[in-house]
Amino acid sequence: MSDSRRALITGITGQDGAYLAHFLLHKGYEVFGTFRRLSTPNLWRLQALGIFDRVKLIPMELIDSASITGALVASRPHEVYNLAAQSFVGASFEQPVGTGNVTGLAVSRLLECIRHVDPAIRFYQASTSELYGSNPDIPHHEGTTFMPASPYAAAKLYGYWVTRVYREAYDLFCVNGILFNHESPLRGLEFVTRKISNALAKVKLGLEDKVVLGNLDASRDWGFAGDYVESMWLMLQQDQADDFVVATGETHTVREFFEAACQAAELDPAGILEVDPKFMRPLDVDILLGDAGKAHKLLGWRPKVAFRELVEIMVRADLERWLRWQRGEQFPWDAFNYPSEMNILSRAMQV
Ligand code: NAP
Ligand code: GDD
Repeated sequence: MSDSRRALITGITGQDGAYLAHFLLHKGYEVFGTFRRLSTPNLWRLQALGIFDRVKLIPMELIDSASITGALVASRPHEVYNLAAQSFVGASFEQPVGTGNVTGLAVSRLLECIRHVDPAIRFYQASTSELYGSNPDIPHHEGTTFMPASPYAAAKLYGYWVTRVYREAYDLFCVNGILFNHESPLRGLEFVTRKISNALAKVKLGLEDKVVLGNLDASRDWGFAGDYVESMWLMLQQDQADDFVVATGETHTVREFFEAACQAAELDPAGILEVDPKFMRPLDVDILLGDAGKAHKLLGWRPKVAFRELVEIMVRADLERWLRWQRGEQFPWDAFNYPSEMNILSRAMQV
């Protein structure tokens, strides 16, 4: 074990896990990350950022307390970032019980293990703007009432409160980062921003002729994931544990994101957008808009990438991937893991 500071990231294979690992390595941390056993490992993001061989991977499953204790003992961290979760709101309507277990109850498992293994560990909980759900009172800030509108948000509400309970009951250094939506080229393909950038890249190259979406009127406060992971680290460097909203302070509809992405891809939006009710949720969140004033003031954190630039970064990255794929190149990429991409990938392979 080295003398440098050690961080354990649960969910290092996810979007935020990969960016946070990259950020902490640059700060000189020894970075440990948990992954779960899958029939096919999912390590493409760490490879894409070029850090796969610089992080130490530990197997861990959030529903298994023994594996959580094992990860803490193996890494002896100063800081734990709990990013692992069933994070897709849409899927939480199909798997409400599993989501409650993994996204909610698991926070108790982690905190109990920390309390017994090393109560000096500083703990970051990935809380979310989804907590505000159907509360129309915008902008949302740390004092705004939570009104969760999905099984995912209800599970996160449990995680939020149990984090506060451990802070107050046991004096653990536990914080909630109430992060608004943040995106990147490493975003999962099921989330709307990446779904749009990926689909438009295919339209641009003549591989597809339309983009099929659900609720176009939903409005989100979208920032860049690479900016947001810094706020997680800053929260754990404070003298006092506290909870913070992290957001850009701008909100845009899905339709606006689509139109901006068309512009970035130099495509005419007319005629290439279709709405399919199968992508609508039983209950949706109409609007999210964050007021990150407290984070500006106390953490000195500010977003660097603005909406238009974010859209451009994502569209450019997906165009580049499909071009590389057309050239027959091999590179870390997630399209092969998605049923939605299978037709096109296998059709081309048969030609
Ligand atoms: P993500 O890309 O979906 O990553 C989720 C991570 O959790 C993956 O590493 C996943 O592993 C892991 N995981 C899922 N189920 C697990 C289980 N049962 N046991 C162990 N690990 C498990 O999510 P993200 O966008 O990086 O978000 C990170 C966290 O921030 C999540 O908790 C999310 O709910 C929260 N959050 C995200 C946003 C946002 O806009 N991105 C905003 C607010 C809060 P696999 O790779 O094996 O699937
Ligand atoms: N995924 C998806 N697919 N969403 C669509 C589609 C579609 O085809 N069409 C419209 N939408 C709408 C959704 O109904 C939702 O209102 C909005 O686009 C954003 O959906 P997602 O990108 O799936 O993200 P989310 O806002 O539900 O959840 C993300 O952000 C939360 C923070 O507010 C996730 O990252 C959560 O883990 C995170 O907590």
